[in-house]
Amino acid sequence: MPTIRRTKVEFEGRIEEREVIVEEEHVVPWERGHQMRLVGKPVPRVDGVARVTGRATYTHDVQLPGMLVGRFLRSPHAHARVTAIDDGEARALPGVFGIWHRFSPPEVGGLDGRELFPEELFYEGAEVAFVVARDRRTLGDALAAMDVGYEVLPAVQDFESATAEGAPEAAMGASNWITPDGSIYERGSVAAGLAAAAAVVELDFTTQVAAHCCMETHGSAARWEGDLLTLWHSTQSVFGTRSSIAGALDIPMDKVRVISDYIGGGFGSKWGAEPFTLMAALAARATGRPVWAMLSREEEQLVAGYRPGSRQRVRLGAMADGTLTLIEQEARVTTGAHGGGGHVIGGPAKDLYACDNVRTAVWAARTNVDSARAFRAPGYVEGTFALESAIDALAGELGLDPLDLRFRNYTETSPSRGQAYSDKRLREAYELGAERIGWRDRHEKVRQEGPWRRGWGMASQIWGGGGGPPANAIVKLLPDGTAEVMVGVQDIGTGTRTVLSQVAAEELGLPMESVRCVLGDTLPTPFGPGSGGSVTLASASPAVRSACREAQRQLVALAAVMMELEDVPVDRFDVVEDEIVYADDPAKRLPLREATAKMGNYMIVAKGARGPNPDDRAVNTFGAHFAQVMVNTETGELKVERIVAAHDIGRVVNPMTATSQVYGGVIFGLGFATTEQRVIDPGTGLQLTANLEDYKVPLGIDVPKIDVLFVDEADVSANSVGSKGLGEPPIIPTAAAIANAVCDAVGVRVTDLPITPDRLLPLLQQEVMP
Ligand code: MOS
Repeated sequence: MPTIRRTKVEFEGRIEEREVIVEEEHVVPWERGHQMRLVGKPVPRVDGVARVTGRATYTHDVQLPGMLVGRFLRSPHAHARVTAIDDGEARALPGVFGIWHRFSPPEVGGLDGRELFPEELFYEGAEVAFVVARDRRTLGDALAAMDVGYEVLPAVQDFESATAEGAPEAAMGASNWITPDGSIYERGSVAAGLAAAAAVVELDFTTQVAAHCCMETHGSAARWEGDLLTLWHSTQSVFGTRSSIAGALDIPMDKVRVISDYIGGGFGSKWGAEPFTLMAALAARATGRPVWAMLSREEEQLVAGYRPGSRQRVRLGAMADGTLTLIEQEARVTTGAHGGGGHVIGGPAKDLYACDNVRTAVWAARTNVDSARAFRAPGYVEGTFALESAIDALAGELGLDPLDLRFRNYTETSPSRGQAYSDKRLREAYELGAERIGWRDRHEKVRQEGPWRRGWGMASQIWGGGGGPPANAIVKLLPDGTAEVMVGVQDIGTGTRTVLSQVAAEELGLPMESVRCVLGDTLPTPFGPGSGGSVTLASASPAVRSACREAQRQLVALAAVMMELEDVPVDRFDVVEDEIVYADDPAKRLPLREATAKMGNYMIVAKGARGPNPDDRAVNTFGAHFAQVMVNTETGELKVERIVAAHDIGRVVNPMTATSQVYGGVIFGLGFATTEQRVIDPGTGLQLTANLEDYKVPLGIDVPKIDVLFVDEADVSANSVGSKGLGEPPIIPTAAAIANAVCDAVGVRVTDLPITPDRLLPLLQQEVMP
């Protein structure tokens, strides 16, 4: 029976105490070294073939009879007022089915507190009108035929102008200051830290705006059947989408079904319903036809969020032996018109090292661009770049090896929470990574090839990823011995469907092919959390285990009757391989499939829930990246030759999907370090990089050799599966490791990202010895 408990859950650097409903039954964790058939094995993705052959249906692929296409007309100005809209010519085009805007409004005026078609538009790409037509060509013609009058207003693009006296507003009725108080965190005191220091380093950093660049753009498709709305939506949160759409339309939740079966990447920006979701639903209702509304690539880059840029200052103090006496990190970020994006830049500074005097501050301000959104380890990516670069500089100052400096300040407990960790194996990650890259004898290797100089650098990672309740699962055991597992999370590309199938098959004693995991659909599944914050596996897999245990108990109880042992308690039976065995007389056994077959048309339906997090422990993930790079001292080119990524995420359920998570994270980190940056024209406030040609994500040719290593010890006090999240950890330390390697190679510390030749070359000309 369910009961109510309080528990602490960390999400993207913030800890929240929640009242949650959990099941009473306690599932005993799989111990370290527990022998398993499937968990821990490199099981290929259950949907791998469907994905690579194009059979998997992404929202983009949805095609329905009579379907119309919809798209927004968007503001071409960074800040403007809509004075008039003439849609006469567009409406007259054959094949145009509907046009909505502020002078011809839809039935519903807004979504989650934001007006759909406001008079004042605060960023390029803001929604001006929504048009639906029978096909994309007609739609394009109709959008081009719209005649909109704008009064162009002054815009602000940077922190200083946004926060200056009398600055133009970047959002309706809101101050441009988001965190005027700096959200300060402090323990000990800066003065005490400075007083105790034998060496102090102080460095300024900037990090660029980076775009998510999801392979599948954001978008939705909507269909009404009577009063039932089905939405296909490329989202990290089907349940979050359902509540906001049901709320916006003022219809009951049971009338809305949200499907996100396959998702072409979600990195924090696909967090729920968006204006195109609501307009697709409204336009479909108005026209009586399904409506498909996916963003174009240009729209994706303009209005689907980004990682905010930052300016940071880090000051570190240490004693001569390397013991840290002070960590101070201040940041200023600009987050667009409506804020967002996570301002937890100080997270790593608070927790990565033992240090009595720590102060972090983050000031955020609005500017006239689309709003920032959470992006794969929001804040921690930017914060770690600066902090771990500064730690490297401090090691140089003290004449210590950067790795030894980190060991010197290692902490076994969470400094900000004052609690022990459920488990922490960063030490093992450091050692695994150092050994693989040959850290200790790196400087005996070849360091120069013509104009190229080689160097090595490293950086550390901390992140949450412990997950927590609520997360539920339902398991159906069918007469032929197969099982359906229903869980309300989504597989955003990480392999969730595969790893949850593994956990279910393991627990039920079934082969992989006898388990089908249904997710990304609000109709059949019980609640699951949004797939973000690296919580999916750690939240959902214990719920799956719990449901499977309950299913098995029910099956064993029936099997006892079938075996004429009805008076024997359920716990006197074991499931060994694929048989139910009476422990007191092992000759009495019944194959699982015979037991299910004897059920006839009865199906076992069992539910399970994620238990609470441990009360007195901090649950975190850890890791370290080691980079080997070459720098061309004549051209300023940077070649990343190798990244060794070592991670502690507790038990690795599937080393194959886990490894591909790390590849993805490292490649994102590489792009952030070396090539990616959104460019806004300072004069007009318009974006110059709203495509994938000018916005440079790494190409295959840029990707170095990546070695992926896992400590792989179950974190048995974190949850019953012993696993923590891996979505975000592998992007966190990459940029700092690369920047530190550059410094090792050429003696130049690049503090502004990305490290492009135009940044590196002038520094080399000033600094590098002939
Ligand atoms: Mo979050 S950046 O959606 O994992």
